[in-house]
Amino acid sequence: MSDDPQGKAFVTIFDDTYDQPDCRAYFRMMDALGYRNQHHAVAAFRAGLGALCRARGLSAPRILDFASSYGVVTLLMRHKITLAQVLARYRSPEFDRATPQEVIARDRDWLAGLARHAPPLHVTGLDIMPNAVAYGRAVGLFDEAYAEDLEEGAPSAGLAAALGRVDMIVECGSVAQLMPRALDRVLAACAPRRPWVMTSPIRGNERAAAAEVLARHGLVQEVLPVAPFIHRRFESDDEQARAIANACAAGHDTEGLETSGHFHAQVLLARPKGEGGDPRDWPDLPGAASRP
Ligand SMILES: C[S@@+](CC[C@H](N)C(=O)[O-])C[C@H]1O[C@@H](n2cnc3c(N)ncnc32)[C@H](O)[C@@H]1O
Repeated sequence: MSDDPQGKAFVTIFDDTYDQPDCRAYFRMMDALGYRNQHHAVAAFRAGLGALCRARGLSAPRILDFASSYGVVTLLMRHKITLAQVLARYRSPEFDRATPQEVIARDRDWLAGLARHAPPLHVTGLDIMPNAVAYGRAVGLFDEAYAEDLEEGAPSAGLAAALGRVDMIVECGSVAQLMPRALDRVLAACAPRRPWVMTSPIRGNERAAAAEVLARHGLVQEVLPVAPFIHRRFESDDEQARAIANACAAGHDTEGLETSGHFHAQVLLARPKGEGGDPRDWPDLPGAASRP
């Protein structure tokens, strides 16, 4: 899986798993590479969502899962299940021989029976891969789903209408940082609602251009006070060397983090200045640094 959709060279590309008719190959690839980003990031996203709901009095917030792929971020946002449990599910040999239609039917039933977090969410999935968003819609993760590339052009009328009602944008995988044109088009369609934007780029993928786009739309970006966390294992020494160089170039101290064999990520929050208060006061922000 590429963590850099523009194809810049420092991560290895696993794009062949992105557009299969069901999620098996994607989740098995995540499992094989020891992905942990979504586990940590979604815990912070949920804490941010709580703060946003309190600040705006929302009882049924609407979310955009940006660059959603098969919807793992939505799955963890909405359901009481861990990433490790999700990935373990697809190790079962019964998934080896199932047809895509059988996988979709099983997953739809499984998700329908999973306990849900409060509050209820309305989720719009957006990705350039038609099969991935179709899977997310078919199994019930996405209430609406769009396969569109906002790097290349304006949103369709349907997507624009959905974006106009979004309260929070969540994204794991760095697209929001690496594709400022797409981010700009998303936020233009969201205005004047000014949704919060929560992302978990790997260290080195945060970009000034994205912060400028966010600022133009009235959002101030900050790094949440959460310790950097594992994104996934490096799959080669070369990839590790490139990641360390990239993180160092962005000003990060990689000792004990990227040097230990894993990409590390952080959570960025962009919101109207001060709305929702100091994240260190949020009751449910995991591992938050305490006030000095
Ligand atoms: C690293 S994956 C992350 C997927 C998912 N968010 C997750 O956490 O597993 C990056 C995703 O970005 C999608 N992508 C690439 N370019 C995009 C664009 N212009 N607009 C929306 N999604 C894009 C890819 O198809 C892929 O699903």
